[in-house]
Amino acid sequence: MAILTILLLFCKLFLFFCKFSVAKDTITQFEPLEDNKTLVSNDGTFELGFFTPATTSSNRYLGIWYANIPFRTVVWVANRDIPITDNFTKLRINTQGNLVLVNQNNTVIWSTNATTKGVVVAAQILDSGNLVLRDEKDTNPENYLWESFDYPSDTFLPGMKMGWDFKKGLIGTTEYYRSGPWDGTKFVGNPSSSNSVINYTFVSDKDGYYITYSINDKSMISRLVLNQTLYLRRQRLTWNNDSQTWRVSSQLPSDLCDVYNTCGAFGICVVSESPVCKCLDGFKPKAPQNWTQTNFHEGCVHNHSWSCGENKDGFQKFSNVKAPETTRSWVNASMTLEECNKKCRENCSCTAYANTDMRGEGSGCAIWFGDLLDVRLIPSGGQDLYIRLAVSQIDGQELAVKRLSQTSGQGLKEFKNEVMLCAKLQHRNLVKVLGFCIREDEKLLIYEYMANKSLDFFLFG
Ligand SMILES: *[C@@H]1O[C@H](CO)[C@@H](O)[C@H](O)[C@H]1NC(C)=O
Ligand SMILES: *[C@@H]1O[C@H](CO)[C@@H](O)[C@H](O)[C@H]1NC(C)=O
Ligand SMILES: *[C@@H]1O[C@H](CO)[C@@H](O)[C@H](O)[C@H]1NC(C)=O
Ligand SMILES: *[C@@H]1O[C@H](CO)[C@@H](O)[C@H](O)[C@H]1NC(C)=O
Ligand SMILES: *[C@@H]1O[C@H](CO)[C@@H](O)[C@H](O)[C@H]1NC(C)=O
Ligand SMILES: *[C@@H]1O[C@H](CO)[C@@H](O)[C@H](O)[C@H]1NC(C)=O
Ligand SMILES: *[C@@H]1O[C@H](CO)[C@@H](O)[C@H](O)[C@H]1NC(C)=O
Ligand SMILES: *[C@@H]1O[C@H](CO)[C@@H](O)[C@H](O)[C@H]1NC(C)=O
Ligand SMILES: *[C@@H]1O[C@H](CO)[C@@H](O)[C@H](O)[C@H]1NC(C)=O
Ligand SMILES: *[C@@H]1O[C@H](CO)[C@@H](O)[C@H](O)[C@H]1NC(C)=O
Ligand SMILES: *[C@@H]1O[C@H](CO)[C@@H](O)[C@H](O)[C@H]1NC(C)=O
Ligand SMILES: *[C@@H]1O[C@H](CO)[C@@H](O)[C@H](O)[C@H]1NC(C)=O
Repeated sequence: MAILTILLLFCKLFLFFCKFSVAKDTITQFEPLEDNKTLVSNDGTFELGFFTPATTSSNRYLGIWYANIPFRTVVWVANRDIPITDNFTKLRINTQGNLVLVNQNNTVIWSTNATTKGVVVAAQILDSGNLVLRDEKDTNPENYLWESFDYPSDTFLPGMKMGWDFKKGLIGTTEYYRSGPWDGTKFVGNPSSSNSVINYTFVSDKDGYYITYSINDKSMISRLVLNQTLYLRRQRLTWNNDSQTWRVSSQLPSDLCDVYNTCGAFGICVVSESPVCKCLDGFKPKAPQNWTQTNFHEGCVHNHSWSCGENKDGFQKFSNVKAPETTRSWVNASMTLEECNKKCRENCSCTAYANTDMRGEGSGCAIWFGDLLDVRLIPSGGQDLYIRLAVSQIDGQELAVKRLSQTSGQGLKEFKNEVMLCAKLQHRNLVKVLGFCIREDEKLLIYEYMANKSLDFFLFG
């Protein structure tokens, strides 16, 4: 009798496990996932399994899709370049602790490449849609040996990171669209990135830097996809429960000026103008003939011969722009704009500077070296960018103006003589006279501006 009870109990337990395993989210080293089964994440949001895309005849792939959306929307594919042609492939954890797809002859079709080997390795599909490989003996459940979020397909889900992971050496490659710098609250080139539902965050720490986002409204299902078939490459699709369809809620590039580097070096894209490309003030087309034929790729060069040095060049402020792309740039988040100006001035390869954080009065310093690429005008937003130009190109040079007392006994002739003399006397220790003005009794002298008060302040305290 006792034996029977125990047997029954075993049976019940067994059945319980059987039932439990129907909607499991994990596979272990002992139980592979077969073609006719799926894993479902704990809260039922995502499902992992084998599928055949509608467009191909019979090829099968291992993928992840939304479990609660009626037509299959695949957000990630494992063997994207190596289709499976039968229904006998299994997903298993091999003896090296990697997740592998093996066919009926035990040939590996696809494999993860975890560099650390776990003790008891399991693979789990998380509620975020991330397929992770981890060591069940590890006390930190977020120490993943491998994760699918590091190898995205065409979909950028909430919680994924886009950027540069120093430790794993992962980084994006080809530019098609640039959101512009993160100004502390939004991407300068994409003002709509600051909204109450989608919360974008920029993270920069010793392990790397990246952007990620979360969705504040938990009932909203939304994803970003790269659309290979359209000029509009980046679409945000949001699930509409009433119509049971995906709706495009935003797409990029939003116009021609959003397309990466439309106007070439030192060009600026102004979408309201035709043609959309202009050279920045102080620059002219490098290849004028091509430029007039709307071939903008060569970009622009300094209009006047430009040379680096004190009193030879300065900075012109350009407002409402999307700052240039940052491959050749340098950032210090704690410097002021004044320190930033100085830093840029010091190095003749520096071509521009700007604040990194536009909140409040602005703070931080970004400086650019060499060509300035992918600058556009954003009339309702953008930021201030200070571009290095020859002094002759700036009507914004700092000057010191000396106004002569009207009761001075000095005559016009003497004044002119003095001006001529000062103008001819050029010495690095003498302040330069740049010009003068005489009108009726008014006499003005224009000097280059020297910071730090006047000389008599230092002589007489
Ligand atoms: C799933 O496939 C395996 C072999 O690939 C087979 O043994 C099993 O019976 C199938 N299960 C169902 C429910 O079809
Ligand atoms: C594999 O399974 C799917 C779904 O169960 C089925 O539609 C398809 O015909 C099968 N393919 C092969 C090659 O057996
Ligand atoms: C498995 O091996 C057999 C015998 O070598 C071969 O005929 C078959 O095509 C192989 N199947 C796959 C999927 O490679
Ligand atoms: C394995 O690593 C290589 C090189 O980093 C990468 O290109 C590849 O996508 C990785 N494969 C998987 C399945 O993670
Ligand atoms: C946005 O996400 C960040 C990081 O998760 C969080 O610190 C911040 O409070 C969130 N902001 C809002 C408005 O939800
Ligand atoms: C690209 O966008 C078009 C129009 O919205 C849509 O019909 C098509 O399915 C999309 N393609 C992909 C691969 O998402
Ligand atoms: C979606 O719509 C169905 C009926 O069309 C309804 O039963 C379900 O509660 C809705 N879900 C949400 C999250 O609104
Ligand atoms: C270049 O300089 C000349 C003379 O100063 C000026 O007339 C012209 O408009 C400038 N061109 C550009 C593109 O800035
Ligand atoms: C003008 O464009 C043509 C075609 O793109 C290119 O071959 C040529 O080098 C360009 N000219 C100059 C001066 O860059
Ligand atoms: C950044 O700027 C601050 C303030 O000027 C300075 O103290 C700090 O050393 C700078 N850091 C680097 C890495 O240049
Ligand atoms: C100027 O900056 C460039 C780029 O960072 C660097 O390679 C170069 O050494 C710097 N020159 C001076 C004089 O600091
Ligand atoms: C002005 O004074 C400050 C502090 O005494 C000094 O660092 C700076 O070099 C001076 N500027 C000039 C142009 O002499």
